Amino acid sequence: MNGKRMLVAALAAGSVAMVSVATLAAAAGKPEASRVVARGKYLVEQVAMCTDCHSPRDGKGEFVRERWLQGAPLGFKNTAPMPAWAEVAPPLAGLPGWTEAQVVTLLTTGKDQKGEPPEPPMPPYRMSKEDATAVAAYLASLGKK
Ligand code: HEC
Repeated sequence: MNGKRMLVAALAAGSVAMVSVATLAAAAGKPEASRVVARGKYLVEQVAMCTDCHSPRDGKGEFVRERWLQGAPLGFKNTAPMPAWAEVAPPLAGLPGWTEAQVVTLLTTGKDQKGEPPEPPMPPYRMSKEDATAVAAYLASLGKK
């Protein structure tokens, strides 16, 4: 399917509210949107290292590439007592259960929709809106064929 047809199909399916302009434009091959997704990939994989917690590893500690950013049990524990500590990092690929706007709020304010910080060890990031938007666009683009 070419980019234009994908765009039309997505619009026809009425899924436009769920798919960001950046993602649609990336599918249509618009350079600006691909640049945003590429920047998001760089931030996720090489700066914020979301992958370290949100991607599962095999018995040798290597990432399971087919399950990239699909959520994972944490491979480490807290050594000091903490009131809250999450043991699992949820899936991020395709942003299941999240809109891009919600992820941008989380990554720019360090708080979720209810105004609560995520449980440690999820860092309460304070990214710029531009960086958070790029991260959300990259995550949303994963798992879409
Ligand atoms: C040090 C490990 C770690 C890193 C690095 C990390 N996360 Fe998480 N993340 C977690 C854990 C653990 C949770 C579950 C927290 C909870 O249940 O409140 C979580 C939860 C989340 C959630 C759901 C939050 C909620 O309130 O339900 C989102 C979205 C998320 N992470 C996105 C990201 C993104 C995007 C990055 C990189 C920019 C990232 N995480 C980096 C460990 C991590």
